[in-house]
Amino acid sequence: MGENLLEMNDVNKSFGDVAAVHNINFRVGRNEIVGLLGDNGAGKSTLIKLITGYHQPDTGEIFFDDQRIDHLTVAQARALGIETVYQERALAEQQPLWRNIFMGRELTNRYGLMDVKRMKQETDRLMLESMGFTSTAVTADSVIKTFSGGEKQGVAITRALHFKAELIILDEPTMGLSLSETRKLMDFVADIKRQGKSCIFIDHNIFHVYSVADRVVVLDRGTVSGEFYTKDITLDQLMEKMYRVAETGSLD
Ligand SMILES: Nc1ncnc2c1ncn2[C@@H]1O[C@H](COP(=O)(O)OP(=O)(O)OP(=O)(O)O)[C@@H](O)[C@H]1O
Ligand SMILES: [Mg+2]
Repeated sequence: MGENLLEMNDVNKSFGDVAAVHNINFRVGRNEIVGLLGDNGAGKSTLIKLITGYHQPDTGEIFFDDQRIDHLTVAQARALGIETVYQERALAEQQPLWRNIFMGRELTNRYGLMDVKRMKQETDRLMLESMGFTSTAVTADSVIKTFSGGEKQGVAITRALHFKAELIILDEPTMGLSLSETRKLMDFVADIKRQGKSCIFIDHNIFHVYSVADRVVVLDRGTVSGEFYTKDITLDQLMEKMYRVAETGSLD
């Protein structure tokens, strides 16, 4: 088993004249949290869409779990254990928590009917053990629209982990979240690490990325302009480097 869960070698993706992703070499280790930083238009979302099968690369190779993946589709990416958690879209607002956890993967009994009791029990267990929801106000029957933005993403992350996602991708998950919700979301990301899985965490906010990531990758105009292990660099040093990239477009 190779040390990388995901590996992208010299990957290119253009839209007309725009090289959204240009000769990218990018990897995610097993049980690694990678923070992806970069300005608007740097190519972050395009990179993610290449990993999730939404776009196909023009050239280059992508390996996942030591297998070369060509012509990946969204469904195949999901089957491989690549899950993207979106702020919106992710959950059915009018439905209770337990339905959201098992949406599309309902547990059935031996007659092929939905096993509501077991799904609710499993939801209660997940809430306590994995989501850390201790509030008695939240139960398996709570309707999702009453949850905060951070809690909703926590539900989506928990669901992904429960269904054996290997790589969880969060594209700007803290956007529009309050301070306390952001902190909660960070705890959920830490859960991904604790459960032995990997994560790509995209955020404009360097503080968020630094606090959860093992490694930070900086994108600039479609290429990787810098890469740091958070254990090797202080937040001040990272900020200093980011300013330099912003001013000169390079780290040197
Ligand atoms: N489907 C598309 N068609 C045409 N151009 C695109 C498409 N998707 C992205 N681009 C262009 O590719 C470049 C990279 O865009 P991308 O969305 O990957 O950036 P980003 O880093 O996610 O930015 P943001 O921080 O604003 O989300 C931009 O110049 C963008 O306009
Ligand atoms: Mg984006």
